[in-house]
Amino acid sequence: CLGMHWSSMMILLVLKCLSQIIFYCICFAFQMQTVTIIPGDGIGPEISTSVIKIFEAAKVPIQWEERNVTAIKGPGGKWMIPPEAKESMDKSKIGLKGPLKTPIAAGHPSMNLLLRKTFDLYANVRPCVSIEGYKTPYTDVDLVTIRENTEGEYSGIEHVIVDGVVQSIKLITEEASRRIAEYAFEYARNNQRNSVTAVHKANIMRMSDGLFLRKCREVAENFKDVKFTEMYLDTVCLNMVQDPTQFDVLVMPNLYGDILSDLCAGLIGGLGVTPSGNIGANGVAIFESVHGTAPDIAGMDLANPTALLLSAVMMLRHMGLHGHAKKIETACFDTIRDKKVLTKDLGGNSKCSEFTAEICRRVQDLD
Ligand SMILES: NC(=O)c1ccc[n+]([C@@H]2O[C@H](COP(=O)([O-])OP(=O)(O)OC[C@H]3O[C@@H](n4cnc5c(N)ncnc54)[C@H](O)[C@@H]3O)[C@@H](O)[C@H]2O)c1
Repeated sequence: CLGMHWSSMMILLVLKCLSQIIFYCICFAFQMQTVTIIPGDGIGPEISTSVIKIFEAAKVPIQWEERNVTAIKGPGGKWMIPPEAKESMDKSKIGLKGPLKTPIAAGHPSMNLLLRKTFDLYANVRPCVSIEGYKTPYTDVDLVTIRENTEGEYSGIEHVIVDGVVQSIKLITEEASRRIAEYAFEYARNNQRNSVTAVHKANIMRMSDGLFLRKCREVAENFKDVKFTEMYLDTVCLNMVQDPTQFDVLVMPNLYGDILSDLCAGLIGGLGVTPSGNIGANGVAIFESVHGTAPDIAGMDLANPTALLLSAVMMLRHMGLHGHAKKIETACFDTIRDKKVLTKDLGGNSKCSEFTAEICRRVQDLD
């Protein structure tokens, strides 16, 4: 009996190894790249499933490696992401992430912040493009915000000077400013964009924003084919709501980017339709939906997967899979323009699964 048990165990093991070998052979033959997928919390698994289904319909040559991220305490009590998630990202270099809940008083930092720190994701990129058929007060928005993601007011250096007086340090370094400026100009050049605007308050924060601006000016000298302008943050906000069409690529320090990128998302219909990518050092990049976990509709098949899907489209372009990106983007925008199958937040009454099936059908029709 024991002998039979061992032989069936051995057969199972051999079969498992064989299936792994066949899987890797198929991936190699079809030049499949691996992408780490972090479904996230709340509606995260639903919208991730939707993206996976649409990618299957579009025959995108990637294989997913699913990882969950919950904060764990490492040696010395330092908060970290689980090693399996880190190893997967170190290997694949590319991640797609759903929303993560940040429990209040959980005792650990936000997982989004931890991911940013772990992989030195220094540039947050958010293209804001008007979606035909989804009515907002603005019809012709086509701009990209590029936010420095690692320092500025978010450096976390705060202290009490005396009772009732606190100080928060805004850290701006030459290295991070040059790095984000170079990324913005390269992005403009590689994406057929004409101009880069540096957004700042160097008239008030002469040293910190002054340094940021100086680095942008220096980098601009090496990109003569891209027009460079500089503008005060307050002027940008005023002009943005008056006529967003005058802007192209905008680059800015952390806090300004946090606020301005949400303002721009509002111009095209909100966070439910806005994609986002976080670009890091050593080729690492994580693309994500920037809305939250929507606990009020989680598990009800009501979520709108558009933001995660468009983030995944951004990811495909980053990976050089332009044909697949275009096909999926077209199917998504056509579905929204037709208005027949829309989720509730987009003004329809279809389920997430029905919206997904409609995009899959259109993707297959485009073949
Ligand atoms: N990037 C992230 O991971 C991220 C961002 C923001 C908030 N959060 C977390 O999400 C949780 C809930 O935050 P919140 O309630 O303030 O914001 P939220 O974005 O989750 O929800 C705000 C409203 O928008 C709706 N909504 C959001 N995304 C939607 C989608 N894709 N389809 C349809 N409706 C959608 C929700 O139903 C809700 O009514 C918190 O734990 C917060 O920390 C995570």
